[in-house]
Amino acid sequence: MESSWLEARWARPFYLAFVFCLALVLLQAIKLYLRRQRLLRDLRCFPAPPTHWLYGHQKFLQEDEMEKLEELVEKYPCAFPRWVGPFQAFFYIYDPEYAKTFLSRTDPKSQFPNRFLSPCIGQGLLNLEGPKWFQHRHLLTPGFHLNILKPYAEVMVHSVNTMLDKWEKMLSTQHATVEVFEHINLMTLDILLKCAFTQETNCQINGTNDPYVKAVFELGKIIFYRMYSFLHHHDRIFNFSPEGHRFQKLNQVLHQYTEKIVQDRKKSLQDEKKQDNTQKRKYQDFLDIVLSAQAENEDSFSDTDLLSEVNTFILSGHDTTAGGISWLLYCLALNPEHQQRCREEIRDILGDGSSIIWDHLGEMSYTTMCIKEALRLIPPIPSISRELSKPITFPDGHSLPAGMNVVLSIWGLHHNPAIWENPKVFDPLRFSPENSDQRHPHAFLPFSAGPRDCIGQQIAMIQLKVTVALILLHFEVTPDPTRPPILSPQIVLKSKNGIHLCLKKIP
Ligand code: HEM
Repeated sequence: MESSWLEARWARPFYLAFVFCLALVLLQAIKLYLRRQRLLRDLRCFPAPPTHWLYGHQKFLQEDEMEKLEELVEKYPCAFPRWVGPFQAFFYIYDPEYAKTFLSRTDPKSQFPNRFLSPCIGQGLLNLEGPKWFQHRHLLTPGFHLNILKPYAEVMVHSVNTMLDKWEKMLSTQHATVEVFEHINLMTLDILLKCAFTQETNCQINGTNDPYVKAVFELGKIIFYRMYSFLHHHDRIFNFSPEGHRFQKLNQVLHQYTEKIVQDRKKSLQDEKKQDNTQKRKYQDFLDIVLSAQAENEDSFSDTDLLSEVNTFILSGHDTTAGGISWLLYCLALNPEHQQRCREEIRDILGDGSSIIWDHLGEMSYTTMCIKEALRLIPPIPSISRELSKPITFPDGHSLPAGMNVVLSIWGLHHNPAIWENPKVFDPLRFSPENSDQRHPHAFLPFSAGPRDCIGQQIAMIQLKVTVALILLHFEVTPDPTRPPILSPQIVLKSKNGIHLCLKKIP
């Protein structure tokens, strides 16, 4: 008797809750259905590879993504829609005219992967939008002026030599196989810490024993893990997971470290001012530039802005450049004749290489062609993406509506056979002045182009030149045939199994 009374009492609210949930699910299903229909309609004039109704193109592109992309670039001129599941599509472009139209606009960056980077780097140049981005870009551009960068060459020489000393000690006999990416990554971090804060961390020797270095390296790995773990896209689920806990701890280490350096510098500048003994450091570092930008714009450039920009400088600069240098070495290892020609050019300019001055860098014309060709063949940033804020019309008349996610595949552009003859072949002469003259200005975009191009590209090019010059003077590099790299397209193009090279000391 009692139980049927209870049943009657609860049956109605339970029934109502059930109907409510069902209505919600139905509404969501209708929304998704309409979304799919809208995408199908918007993309119908662009041919695409056959797609699975559930996985889209994910299964097809899962393995050997870069090679598959090359096939698609050859088959579908200019662009193709890539479906990720039934309700999400990214529009891939790899044609110079399409790239030119796309990069001349200031559409916001796609939420993915910036949403996962922001808790770590804050809101800096890399992920700011609109007037605030414009203000920061304007304030920080003087920090990347050649006069500021010139003294960095000496800092770089010092860090590269530390790495070469390490390599020499590792070589018990005259040659050995080394996974170069990890060493180079520590070396580029060392350089950027010196350029950013004039900070001597000894990170190349101490490695990840240093808590800050450990934080920088591990945070990158966790962000990558999160990007590809669908469940962890949800903030609450991620924050409660072991990876989320670890992320918060490491993030704290990173932020405390930067905050302390900034506070110490502010204090020492004040002390110097009080005692009227402004000591000139050897060179102006990035922190000097950001602090003077802040002094002139106190109201609109907060301490939080300052910390975000400093973290952005370090985190956007070291991994990308390390990728660029490692892939360049790999290309030279596979192409000994070009390696030797670079070495001869560098010997002519530098002699024994005991000193490199700024003017030397401008003389390395063949080496620069090899650097550019490596950046073409294996671009460290394989793609960039935006969410269209207004409709776009490409030069051939095809249009896309606002809201579409567009991906500029730098890899696809650099491997597009319509622009590059034999795109898989390493041929530095593509970049000789006479061969470059006729090329479309948007055919080669390792650093992107337009208003949001890479602000650090000069620093990167200096690092590439200094590093390759010193390595080639002291070592001969050949590939390790037992461990060829396996491409892994993360934000920065890496190798799943590292980049193993045989190093032989040049007597
Ligand atoms: C070989 C090395 C490098 C490559 C290939 C590279 C490539 C790129 C690319 C393709 C972009 C555009 C990203 C987008 O539009 O989503 C970019 C932006 C950026 N890069 Fe680099 N980069 C390199 C080195 C550096 C270095 C050394 C720094 C700083 C020290 C740096 C700082 C930045 C910043 C702050 C942005 C954002 C600029 C803005 O939106 O205003 N990069 N980089």
